[in-house]
Amino acid sequence: MELPSPATSHWDDDPDLGSVVVDEQGIRRRVRELADEVTEDYGDRPPLLVGVLKGAFVFMSDLARAVRLPVEVDMMAVASYGSAATTSGVVRILKDLDTDLTDRHVLVVEDIVDSGLTLSYLRRNLMARRPASLEVCALLVKDGRQRAPLDLRYVGFRIPGDFVVGYGLDIAERYRNVPDVRVYQGPVAVG
Ligand code: PRP
Repeated sequence: MELPSPATSHWDDDPDLGSVVVDEQGIRRRVRELADEVTEDYGDRPPLLVGVLKGAFVFMSDLARAVRLPVEVDMMAVASYGSAATTSGVVRILKDLDTDLTDRHVLVVEDIVDSGLTLSYLRRNLMARRPASLEVCALLVKDGRQRAPLDLRYVGFRIPGDFVVGYGLDIAERYRNVPDVRVYQGPVAVG
């Protein structure tokens, strides 16, 4: 049985947070749908889920538990933003995978695709490790922000270009624990 979403949350009182872009119930429902698709598509070849930290930790946790296959989970940490709300275009690997990807069915789990630079870099980097297959599951994709089309096998929601936080997404490391996705309307550090 589904628990009702609270009508209000204490995050509503935070002046730096604006409107809810995707609510908790919508996320729950969509994560279940994505997990069902993954379960059906991969069948007898359970994928290695590769989470992209830090943002993907919440989505990964919910998705992995909703997929009805004996998946494996690994994480890598990359950074493209620094603390400002604009993309720098620079992608650095802060923590690499523990798993050898050779001949593995790899499903990259991302919280958000904005410019697409992180994903393009990751795809090239991971393909060089010769997996049997490589697909991407992104919860959020910002509309019209990618310079080149990205091959995204699973997409949760297409959202407008506003800066959003919550459900793993941060501004200067804050708000990752907000249970829904909200517009951030507070001050943005420069640099
Ligand atoms: C975010 C997000 C993606 C990336 C998307 O990560 O998790 O990895 O930005 O942006 P892009 O499509 O413009 O490349 P971020 O670098 O903010 O790090 P974090 O996950 O640790 O918050």
